[in-house]
Amino acid sequence: MYARRSCLTAAILLATGAGGMAWADQALLNSSCGGCHTETEAGLSRIEGQRKTPEGWMMTIWRMQNAHGLNISAEDRRVLVQYLSDTQGLAPSEAAPWRYALEKDPNTVEALEEPFASMCARCHTGARVGLQRRTGEEWDLHMDFHVGQFPTAEYQALARDREWFKIAKEDMVPWLTETYGPDASAWESWQGQPHAPAAGDWVFLTELPGQGEAYGKLSVSGEASPYTVSGELVLASGESLPVSGSMNLYSGYEWRANLEIGGTVYRQVLAMSEDGAGLEGRQFLRGQDSLGAPLIAARAGDAAVILGAVPSALPAGSTSAQIVGVGLDGLSASTGNAEANPYGAALSVETEGNGMLALAAGEAAFDLAYYESIDSLQVEPAFPLARVGGGSDVGPAKVPAYFSAIGFWNGPDGEPGTADDIRVGKMDAAWAMTDAHEHAAHMEDAKYAGSIDAGGVFTPGVAGPNGERPFSTNNAGELTVTAEALGQSADASLIVTVQRFIDPPIR
Ligand code: HEC
Ligand code: HEC
Repeated sequence: MYARRSCLTAAILLATGAGGMAWADQALLNSSCGGCHTETEAGLSRIEGQRKTPEGWMMTIWRMQNAHGLNISAEDRRVLVQYLSDTQGLAPSEAAPWRYALEKDPNTVEALEEPFASMCARCHTGARVGLQRRTGEEWDLHMDFHVGQFPTAEYQALARDREWFKIAKEDMVPWLTETYGPDASAWESWQGQPHAPAAGDWVFLTELPGQGEAYGKLSVSGEASPYTVSGELVLASGESLPVSGSMNLYSGYEWRANLEIGGTVYRQVLAMSEDGAGLEGRQFLRGQDSLGAPLIAARAGDAAVILGAVPSALPAGSTSAQIVGVGLDGLSASTGNAEANPYGAALSVETEGNGMLALAAGEAAFDLAYYESIDSLQVEPAFPLARVGGGSDVGPAKVPAYFSAIGFWNGPDGEPGTADDIRVGKMDAAWAMTDAHEHAAHMEDAKYAGSIDAGGVFTPGVAGPNGERPFSTNNAGELTVTAEALGQSADASLIVTVQRFIDPPIR
């Protein structure tokens, strides 16, 4: 390893321009990893035969540190995650089906085919697998690794009833090689095309959990990761919060930003669209990823884009809305008056009854609902998890859940809950929670498992035994969460369960 370090120094001294940088990064990879991974014609053994996301590379290098004693600084690790994601990453189309795992969306339930689901997606998500591409040899070695590193894998649920290792080697390896194998055509064609720069001005639409719908601007500057980001976030109330931080762009499109918004640190896991015109993903509290919301953005330019509106639907009596987008100088509205501003256009309007307001600019069109009444209500998400936590210096923090109440009209068939229902938008709702069933009532779950606030944020109880409960059980429970708005009500089921002690970047 020492001999390789001197080679790295030489590489840095000689580095000029982007080609030189890549050379320096390859030298860092060789010096950091080459002590255990031997050089082959294709690259370093084990490393060259796979492609994955920045989070995937991060997890592998973390394991090299944790399990195998690799010694590496945080900065060198960042450089290697960048280099490996840029040279052995996934094409946008390869990552697309699994983004929920990168975004840490708390409300996705995977629906995977058998035997993949029971063989591979019971200790971790199937997404962890789908977000990798490996040669057959690499999938084969990875099965050995599973049993070598975690011998109890063979004795756990859904392994004891079968010969897990035999099926993994004989059936899963060929299937994995076929499904998530070495074919790199999508990646090569993505690498072969010019990528839009991340730097520039963006207008975004999102929501801050508990604080409501929001929009704003991000200005990105720099030539390479880490980019500098600054901007502003505006809440529906008009209150404006400063945004600042940094962003790494991996694989030409994987946007990972840590931004302070009004003093709180948020993380953005977004994908830049292939043409570089848009961003899409999720923004969440860096310290508590269950509290987040989707975020979409458009690059400021000539083309008109309407991302949406804040509020997302106009309650009776409201006289204004922010239409969020770019290039909206010529925005026309079927009623009311639109005036361009830095976030799109401000709409002044008087509405009565229920209906849709048609907005258009250039090729962009958008229908904004205004309402006096709704026909039905839905709570989103319908079935989330929360986790008790805190109560000690070492255990995981509480994992809250975040609910929204969405209003609907029946649509042409006059029936609620059918495919032609019209989504009106997010409603101001009154929130309540009750015991989910007889046993929960007997255990008084609603009294102990946590509480929900006016913004739809459920905060679970503290971890550990509770002497006030039967058998001193913990504060887990099963609850029904109810929203009420405009005379309609709707329920969601909430399970409050125990802590997650190991929480890697891809679950
Ligand atoms: C101290 C020895 C050591 C060092 C240094 C080391 N590795 Fe490893 N690596 C291993 C061992 C042992 C395995 C096989 C077991 C495993 O997969 O964890 C492995 C396996 C791997 C694999 C295959 C894992 C899989 O998921 O199948 C990759 C990729 C990898 N290492 C990357 C790296 C990178 C990148 C570095 C440098 C940043 C590095 N390693 C440094 C010991 C090391
Ligand atoms: C008994 C639990 C268990 C089962 C079953 C299981 N895994 Fe894993 N898997 C793990 C653990 C634990 C890790 C994390 C290792 C680490 O990084 O510390 C992991 C990591 C992985 C990774 C990421 C490794 C990396 O470094 O890139 C992949 C890919 C993977 N598993 C694939 C599979 C496949 C495919 C199957 C089914 C054939 C499977 N797993 C079944 C426990 C399991």
